[in-house]
Amino acid sequence: MATLDKTSLQLPKENPEAEDFLPLLGTDHVELYVGNAKQAAHYYMSAWGFQPLAYSGLETGSKDRVSYVLQQDKIRLILTSPMRPGGEINKHIDSHGDGVKSIALWVDDATKSYEETTKRGAKSYMEPKTIKDEHGEVTLSGIHTYGETVHIFVERSKYDGIFMPGYRKWDPHYKPSDVGLKYIDHMVGNVGWNEMNKWCEFYAKVMGFAQLVSFDDKDISTDYTALMSKVMSNGNGRIKFPINEPAEGKKKSQIEEYIEFYNGAGVQHMALATDNIIQTVASLRDRGVEFLTVPATYYEDVLDRVGEIDENLEPLRELGILIDRDDEGYLLQIFTKPILDRPTMFIEIIQRKGAKSFGKGNFKALFEAIEREQESRGTL
Ligand code: FE2
Repeated sequence: MATLDKTSLQLPKENPEAEDFLPLLGTDHVELYVGNAKQAAHYYMSAWGFQPLAYSGLETGSKDRVSYVLQQDKIRLILTSPMRPGGEINKHIDSHGDGVKSIALWVDDATKSYEETTKRGAKSYMEPKTIKDEHGEVTLSGIHTYGETVHIFVERSKYDGIFMPGYRKWDPHYKPSDVGLKYIDHMVGNVGWNEMNKWCEFYAKVMGFAQLVSFDDKDISTDYTALMSKVMSNGNGRIKFPINEPAEGKKKSQIEEYIEFYNGAGVQHMALATDNIIQTVASLRDRGVEFLTVPATYYEDVLDRVGEIDENLEPLRELGILIDRDDEGYLLQIFTKPILDRPTMFIEIIQRKGAKSFGKGNFKALFEAIEREQESRGTL
């Protein structure tokens, strides 16, 4: 792997409020604990266009777990399943169903990242450890965040193998084409009642993040459901973590439904960026991915709200892609239905055309769509 470009750490700050004691180069990977990693890997390849990258299991000396690593451009997912009864992974799946265990962050120095965060109050998950093979070495460390979710710090500048020690190349004959997904735009956490500020303070104090924007229940409420949200970001703006908590409404908040079925706080959605949302979403739909739809009336006045856009409205309308604008430009976005049986995690597809916000103007239309789904599940 190419040596790190140190100048990248001194890029103009996207979020000048944030502190620099924890320079983050990007998201290294996201690890999900799942009941059946082999079949989940097939889903992420066939439906989402991820490419097979690396494997760890009995054949590589891993006795208790199996992991498949998938990649699409800069996005790397690890799908991990337990091989035997008992243990931490089974417990996680029993409690939460399939879900995100780790949001791993690419750093220059995993030992320093661990020291800087734990001395500011982070709870240790993994003390720094260096693993080696013939391709070099990787240093890992980890801290806890909301719920049972963790952040792993990955230092890989001295490694040029396929992924990291313990993994071998995974090269099956089945490699469906990608769908144009580029990188992780943001990862959203749902936390319990009155916990949003606590976790935003955690990201500020422990990781040096600063708040980008906040939405309260006046922004994000419909007749029934409500939530509050704040977006925390690191200094270079590459890592953005919105944190949601439920708010009082006439009926059950979608965040409360998540917390109930996930059995606690956890990752609600990953937002994956594309350069061509029309092509990406059309491919995903062809491959069976189900998206939330908004009423056709959304498109009647959307251009009055957002102004001129480069795209034709027709394909956006056909696919149900939403549009929003802020001071700096506009964005296009769409959300899947939950991708699991439990109504917990979903995926957002986003294309930014200058806008740095999160689609606040779409919240109402979107939440009404979510409520229709909640109603059909009897959980509204
Ligand atoms: Fe999002």
